Order: sequence, then C-alpha cells, then structure tokens
Amino acid sequence: MFEAINISLFLLAFTCVIVLALNFQQPVVRAAAIVLGALGCLAIVYGFFFLTESKILDEPRETQLITDYIKPVLLYLQAIMLTAMAGVLLFVAYRLFNQGNQIEVRLKNTDQSYGSVSRSLHWMVAILFVVVVPTATYMTIIPEDVWYRKNYYVLHKNLGFVLMSVVLVRLVWKRYDRPVMPHPSLNTGEKTLVNWVHRLLYMVMFLFPVTGYGMSTSGGKSSEFFGAEVPLLWSPNETLTLVFALFHKIVIPYVLYIAITLHLAGALKHLLQENK
Ligand code: HEM
Ligand code: HEM
Repeated sequence: MFEAINISLFLLAFTCVIVLALNFQQPVVRAAAIVLGALGCLAIVYGFFFLTESKILDEPRETQLITDYIKPVLLYLQAIMLTAMAGVLLFVAYRLFNQGNQIEVRLKNTDQSYGSVSRSLHWMVAILFVVVVPTATYMTIIPEDVWYRKNYYVLHKNLGFVLMSVVLVRLVWKRYDRPVMPHPSLNTGEKTLVNWVHRLLYMVMFLFPVTGYGMSTSGGKSSEFFGAEVPLLWSPNETLTLVFALFHKIVIPYVLYIAITLHLAGALKHLLQENK
C-alpha cells in the first residue's frame, strides 16, 4: 500500500503549499497558489477522462444502492464543475496578478474579514474535499477484483482521517475566534440563506468522516492511517452499518452537492459584483 501512502502524502503536501502561499502578503505569490489550485482541478478532470478510456464506467461494480445507477452521470457533472472552477480560479489569479493589493496578515478574524487561521483551515478542508469526493465516487464503482481498488480505499481513509482532525480543529477555532459579519450588500433573505448554507456545510464537514469511520467500524472493516492500524470502536453490527451507509453514501453527499452549489453560486456572485 506504499503507493497509496505516497499519493496521500503528496496530496497533503500539495494542499499545505497552496494554503501557506495564500497567506503571503505579495499578490503574486497568492496568484501562483491559485493557479496551482486550478491545475489541481484540471488534473482531476484529466484523471476522469483517463477513466472513461478504461472499462470501469461501462462495467462498474454490481449496484448496491439506487444512487449507484447515477454515478457515471455524477462523475461527468463533477468533471464539468471542476473545469468551471479551474476557469474561475484562473480568472481570479489573473486579476490578482494584475491589480492585487498586499494583504495585512493577521491571525484572527475582524468583523469584515477572515484571519489567516480561519482562511487556512477553510482552504485546507475545501481542497481536500475537492480531492476526496470525486475519488470516492469513482472508488465505489470499481469492481471488487480490480487490483488498484484497495489503494483507493487506503487513500480515502488516510485523507478522511486527516479531514476529521482538521475539521475538529476548525470547529474549536470557530468557538474561539469572532464571526465575520455577512457582506453589507446582502439583503435579509440572502443573509439568512448564507447563514443556513454555512451551517449545512459545517454539519457535512463533521458528519462525513464520523459516519465513514462508523460505517467501517460497524462493518468490521479495519482502517489504516498511513500504515498504522486504527482501532474498531465497537463490534460488528449489520443494522448500524446500514444506517451509517445511508448517511455516508446518500444523505450527506447529496446535502453537500446542494449546499456547495449554493455556496459557489454565492462566491461567484460576490466575485462578479466586485469585478463591476
Ligand atoms: C472549493 C471551492 C470553495 C470556494 C471558492 C469557497 C469560498 C468561500 C468564501 C468566499 C467564503 C467566505 C464567506 C462567504 O461569502 O460565504 C467561504 C466561507 C465558508 N466556506 Fe467555502 N468555499 C469553497 C469550498 C468549501 C467547502 C468544500 C466547504 C465545506 C465542506 C466550505 C465551507 C465554508 C464555510 C463553513 C464557510 C463559512 C466560514 C465561517 O464564516 O465560519 N467551503 N467559502
Ligand atoms: C471528510 C471526510 C470524508 C468524505 C468527504 C467522504 C466521502 C465519501 C464519499 C462521497 C463516498 C462515496 C459514497 C458513494 O457514492 O457511495 C465515500 C465512500 C466511503 N467512505 Fe468516505 N468520506 C470521508 C471520510 C471517511 C472515513 C474517515 C472513512 C473510514 C475510516 C470512510 C470510509 C468510506 C468507505 C469504506 C466508503 C465506501 C463504501 C462502499 O464501498 O460502498 N470515509 N466517502
């Protein structure tokens, strides 16, 4: 499983480089980090087109849940979304490169803007989600007998446990730091919507790794974290496995798709208004 561990380490290092560079005062360094993020999105899209050449999309794992039928379409939608995201990121980088200002680097939030800690934790989670969700969608259609299937599961659990820790730090930090006020240009309805979308995203962030670990534990499947055995928390239980699977594989992913679409639409609207 060395390959999966090496790839997990590479992805973590890639994420950390982007997150660190986004905290630099100089706009050119931040622009370079954003270009790297865009290239990362395009690399996942390239991986997707590489998959369409393989037989897996035509002969996927036997379907277990109704949502398994939609996965090939879901993969196409994720590829379209990632391409659009890469385009927006390149535009943001171009603008920053040409007319970006130096930012004031400060650890904590103010009423109007996020501090370095909140920003770093946000981007760490966002980048890892962008990697983990499409690879997990693909992972769950790989037939049992394909040799690299296990590698995807090891990669998924490594990054899943890292995400679990980063999310816990983020939730603790959120209690300690002050909240950033909604943008003054938003009307009352929009402020309520933004607030609810943020709550949903926090719920999704927390519940994804917890239900994943719960599902593996209840199914009696051992998990590894960079080669070290992670203990199973209770004895196998079929009903619990089904409940955790229902949440990890259906409810939470679809809540994420809805919340993230609204979140990105909000961010795009804000960007276009700023550009005007
Ligand atoms: C990858 C693309 C993403 C972009 C471009 C993005 C952009 C932003 C921006 C601009 C904000 C500032 C406040 C706002 O206007 O909403 C924000 C806040 C936030 N984002 Fe994201 N985001 C992304 C991904 C994610 C993901 C994957 C999650 C969680 C699963 C997430 C969770 C949040 C939360 C919870 C806040 C509110 C933070 C707070 O005030 O406590 N974002 N995001
Ligand atoms: C934030 C972290 C995580 C995210 C975003 C995430 C996301 C996902 C997604 C989207 C799927 C595909 C579901 C489907 O379409 O069928 C999946 C499957 C899976 N996840 Fe996670 N996951 C996370 C953490 C974990 C953790 C920590 C574990 C276990 C230790 C785990 C174990 C699994 C397993 C075993 C499957 C495959 C189930 C199957 O073969 O049908 N996940 N995950």
